[in-house]
Amino acid sequence: MQTIYYDLRDTKGQQKEIEDKISAAAKILREGGLVGIPTETVYGLGADGTNPAAVRRIFQVKGRPQDNPLILHVTGAQWLPRYCADIPPVAYTLARKFWPGPLTMILKRQPTVPNETTAGLDTVGIRCPNHPVTLAIIREAGMAIAAPSANTSGRPSCTTAQDVLEDVGSRVDMIVDGGPCTVGVESTVLDLTRDPPRLLRPGGLPVEDIERLIGHIDVDRAVNASLRAEERPGAPGMKYRHYAPKAPVTVITGSPMNSAREIERRAAPGVGVICFDEYAHLFPNQVVRSLGPSSDKFTQAQRVFEALRSFDSTDVQEIFAQCPDNRGLGLAIGNRLKKAAGFHVINADSQRIILGVTGGTGAGKSSALQAVLDLGGSVIDCDAVYHQILSESDEFKNAINEKFPGVFTAEGQLNRKKLGQEVFAKRDRLEHLNAIVYRFLIPELEAMVAAADGLCALDAINLFESGLDRLCDRTIAVTAPTELRVKRVMARDHITEQYARLRINAQKQDEYYRGKCDCELNNASDSPEEFRREAYLFFERLIEAIQEEKRRG
Ligand code: TXA
Ligand code: MG
Repeated sequence: MQTIYYDLRDTKGQQKEIEDKISAAAKILREGGLVGIPTETVYGLGADGTNPAAVRRIFQVKGRPQDNPLILHVTGAQWLPRYCADIPPVAYTLARKFWPGPLTMILKRQPTVPNETTAGLDTVGIRCPNHPVTLAIIREAGMAIAAPSANTSGRPSCTTAQDVLEDVGSRVDMIVDGGPCTVGVESTVLDLTRDPPRLLRPGGLPVEDIERLIGHIDVDRAVNASLRAEERPGAPGMKYRHYAPKAPVTVITGSPMNSAREIERRAAPGVGVICFDEYAHLFPNQVVRSLGPSSDKFTQAQRVFEALRSFDSTDVQEIFAQCPDNRGLGLAIGNRLKKAAGFHVINADSQRIILGVTGGTGAGKSSALQAVLDLGGSVIDCDAVYHQILSESDEFKNAINEKFPGVFTAEGQLNRKKLGQEVFAKRDRLEHLNAIVYRFLIPELEAMVAAADGLCALDAINLFESGLDRLCDRTIAVTAPTELRVKRVMARDHITEQYARLRINAQKQDEYYRGKCDCELNNASDSPEEFRREAYLFFERLIEAIQEEKRRG
């Protein structure tokens, strides 16, 4: 198929030429074809919304999940009764004020709208886009145009005709270039079948503007968080991983100054940065995409998708993004960034202090961690998290089973002894196992650390091998004289002296931890209670030092 590409800005105001091109687009749509169309929000992939076969082609070309409905594009509220039923007066109130514009209303549908368009729902999304070219095309085509955003499913949306060409160019009949999108994020989706109405997707029309006109609206949980597997968002599209570049994204919220500093701490080579203009100079060795001034959300909305898309042509391994606050357009911009990050979000304003606590058996790590709890902190037991993933994640089990066939029983229970024999026989096998474990464990632990507020200790034997030390403000080696350790392990585990020595010698020695960690907490005490008090004072001083350091920046 040959795609026709029309740049309507090229015609330099030659009215006849523009009209001809609009007619050609309308004709293609009437005949069941696909046209990339400009709107003020993002580019759409349009087809006759009343033609099931044409709509099916949209799903094919985008690779869109079948259960994700499309929205209908019309030229004004006078079209509502054609496609919608039980229309509440508030729909007209909203249309009068905000149409044409970035507001999609969810209403009961008429039987004229095929199941293909609504993905079988008894409701339909409908909006009037604010772009003269697309309004003219719809008018001339004479029917509602179903159009999702023109990106292939999962990618960031298209805000220029070039983006559309890149994503679906070879699979559509025509692309109409109407210039870069002026809003830059998709429409706000509002469910009017509920009372009060419910925000399903934040977008180009701020919630505050809607509430000023019609009063309080509810916000769907999918707007601010990733949903658990069994949860269903109001808008089916909100459950999918979305807008994501190939490299993983982490969003850093908080005041612009704090988030910039937080990113600076993580700005290793190979890191990509999305930031406000004022902070771009902090990242001379990174690939930087600027969102615009921190105070200018209009510009940020226009640039956010292009910023996310552009990393795919670079070799960055990881992306960190600053994020505006939730007011006005900020809610939509932040939502797109957070979705791109799979809601992997770190709040740079939180007074989080992460301590990595490590050391061999019998040194007193448990008492030290008790002291962290005494100080009001929390403890993440990495070993417990490992066991939890082991019991819950089939993907994890499969990965282990692939490398070490037969270590699981028929019931899916791990045969620890067998796995132990396999990995301790050969060093490289242990490394394979660790690589698998870290691949699953680290993202989980990173998310737990990011969610922690205040003081938090990571209890990890392999703090350095796993790379978890990166997440810590300080790493602490808990050490103790060998003879004391032997005595403690014998008493604790009711084992012989010989076996206790064997266990201690099988582990890394204190020198190792001492050499790797930022500081050492030596436990030469005979009483666990006394050591717990010592540890309490030790951590108290350490926290003060870290806080002071953070204050100074
Ligand atoms: O700005 C926009 O809305 C752009 C331009 C092209 O108009 N279009 C757009 O379409 O973003 P799309 O398909 O990418 O996103 C539509 C969202 C999806 O999350 C979808 O699940 C939701 O609206 N949606 C559509 N119909 C719905 C319905 N009947 N009930 C609930 N959610 C619906
Ligand atoms: Mg979309």
